[in-house]
Amino acid sequence: MNINWCLYENSYNGELIKYYEGLMTQGNGYLHVRGSYEEGISGAVQDEEYDRKPANVTLEKHKKQKSKWGTYIPGIVGPHPYLKTETINLPYIFDLKVNADGEELDMENCQIEKYERYLNLLDGILTRSFTWKTNKGKVLKLTFSRMISMADKHIAVQTLTIKAESGDINIVVTGDINTGVRTNGFNHFTRIKKEKQDDITRVITETNGGNTITMCSYLDCEGENVIQQGEQLKITKIIQVSTDRDEEIEALKETKEDIRTLDLDRLVERHRLKWTEKWRAADIVITGDNHAQLAIRMAIYHLIRADNEDDPRVAICAKGHAGEGYCGRYFWDTEINILPFFIHTNPKAARNLVKFRYMTLSGAKENAKNYGYKGARYAWESSVTGIEECANWQYADHEIHVTADIIYAMEHYVKATKDVGFIEECGLEMMKETAEYWAERVDEIDGQYQLLGVMGPDEYLPMTRNNAFTNRMVKFSLEKTVQYLSETNQGQKDQLKKWETIKERLRLPYKETDELIMQSDDFASYADVNFDEIWKDRSRYFGEFISQEKNYRSKALKQADVLEMMLLFPEEFTEKQLIANYDYYEPITTHDSSLSAAVHGILAARMGRVKEAERFLDKVIDIDMCPDKCGAEEGIHIANCGGLWQLIVYGFAGLKSAMWEDNIVLNPCLPREWQQVEIPIMWHGERKRVVVTHEGYNIN
Ligand code: BGC
Repeated sequence: MNINWCLYENSYNGELIKYYEGLMTQGNGYLHVRGSYEEGISGAVQDEEYDRKPANVTLEKHKKQKSKWGTYIPGIVGPHPYLKTETINLPYIFDLKVNADGEELDMENCQIEKYERYLNLLDGILTRSFTWKTNKGKVLKLTFSRMISMADKHIAVQTLTIKAESGDINIVVTGDINTGVRTNGFNHFTRIKKEKQDDITRVITETNGGNTITMCSYLDCEGENVIQQGEQLKITKIIQVSTDRDEEIEALKETKEDIRTLDLDRLVERHRLKWTEKWRAADIVITGDNHAQLAIRMAIYHLIRADNEDDPRVAICAKGHAGEGYCGRYFWDTEINILPFFIHTNPKAARNLVKFRYMTLSGAKENAKNYGYKGARYAWESSVTGIEECANWQYADHEIHVTADIIYAMEHYVKATKDVGFIEECGLEMMKETAEYWAERVDEIDGQYQLLGVMGPDEYLPMTRNNAFTNRMVKFSLEKTVQYLSETNQGQKDQLKKWETIKERLRLPYKETDELIMQSDDFASYADVNFDEIWKDRSRYFGEFISQEKNYRSKALKQADVLEMMLLFPEEFTEKQLIANYDYYEPITTHDSSLSAAVHGILAARMGRVKEAERFLDKVIDIDMCPDKCGAEEGIHIANCGGLWQLIVYGFAGLKSAMWEDNIVLNPCLPREWQQVEIPIMWHGERKRVVVTHEGYNIN
């Protein structure tokens, strides 16, 4: 096992099951399965029904469960009674139970020794091995291993070897596709048909979202086997998964092969080759810091895994399709935090992520209509239709910046890849529709256009006047709209003129010369906070120590807001402004959002404050990697994975964004421990390799 490539667990800990299930999620973009034990665990019922109601998104306490199975196919969603449309947890495909001399394998109750489990990020194969001393005193060595093929999207494979280390043992292995699961305590299945014929199990599940999912598994060596001391038994299970959504996408069309005849070695080889290809385009190599090395590989692994590069009908949900937190919804995280990684490693995937918003434009139009506006208003929380799915009114109604973020991201994609065709194919319509919405969402007051009742990225102030970030993004979005429509002779003249005027006269709550930029017009009037008095334990969320009502009238930021704007518009702010705003906002920012730390780290590096940037690097890594925090229990904070990539690339290596620079230009500020970092970067369609040291950098 290579410590720079493996997420490793060296002993069984009942308290950490759910955490490792999230952290060790496997997948291939199309299908994702949490890293649960194959045999289950006693005391962890998977089909318990309960009411999960919408709650404060930062502080929501999820149901306390020891283990949570999760099998997700992005796009397979259905209505939940309180949460609107959510991703559906499908039957558990890796179910494999072992009985030795009448005793059921259960990590909690059996005598287990020499336990180790690791997810090899290089090939996404999850392996668990241990010895089991049965009640009858016999000793077995078990090794479970499994993969979800990166090459053959509908196929997953698992193996189990059992070696009798002492005594002759009677082994019974049973495999299943376990339908006893729920999603956030709710049963989305309307019909389940299960057939078992010889060594094949077939499960057809119909959902309340109207989809049909077919799962088929083949298990060899099922049933009773006696193994003598020193002998080994090998069990193989091959699983095939498909849905009625697959046909629309060429690359997802199922090959109807008989799973019994599949060549296992060939399957594994094809899978490994595909992962090798992925890593060649994306691996960042750090010399001098193993911890950061493993963390960035973990982040890249999950980014690659979570993205279905062939399917523009889905994006990457906030928990990276690794859990039921945030109900499998798509946020601005995709455009602002995640997209840069794909733009510079896999432009095809990036294109489909941007195109996802084109595919959901009709939903965005529906949203605008529902709010009484023309045009298109993208959902704060989107599912596959683009209709607003956020069940909390504050965010749904007021966090409107996402509509402009999407246009920013599109431009970023086009600038970095030179795929100008995208603008004609999808962009013009998206821009036209969103501009129509903005024209109605602004209020004309005192000769200026204003955006009132707005929640910026900082979700701890729900209804502010003219949020700097939001207004700057909207200005940008209108500017691009007018520019592209004029260049292509599209759009009506009076409409273009109107959008141009709104852009020109859209109020920014700051002047170019202001050193300190207020987050919104009314920001200064909110109450100051005595953090030391309120925030007694800084290892917990600030939000846990203050009521939402009080928080909503206080100067305590959940996450980067003005600083996020400075990151996205670097050319517009001087070093002096950056320093002044960083020093003002950072001490009053709680970083209760996982999107915050990376932004601060990047800007700290940009200012040459290396210790501060290192502090944020640790914070970013801990969000999912620290077992004490259990951050990955409900899924991976995938925006933070994109954030870690950005912290290394934009922060430590100091790459200037392709949005504003034509050439690769770096201004590095490496952590003191690091000797070197190597980064592959796709730039204007060419693959480059950047090597940065404390002395300078090279681009090949
Ligand atoms: C953050 C948002 C983010 C969402 C999903 C929230 O806690 O405040 O900025 O989009 O989580 O990650």
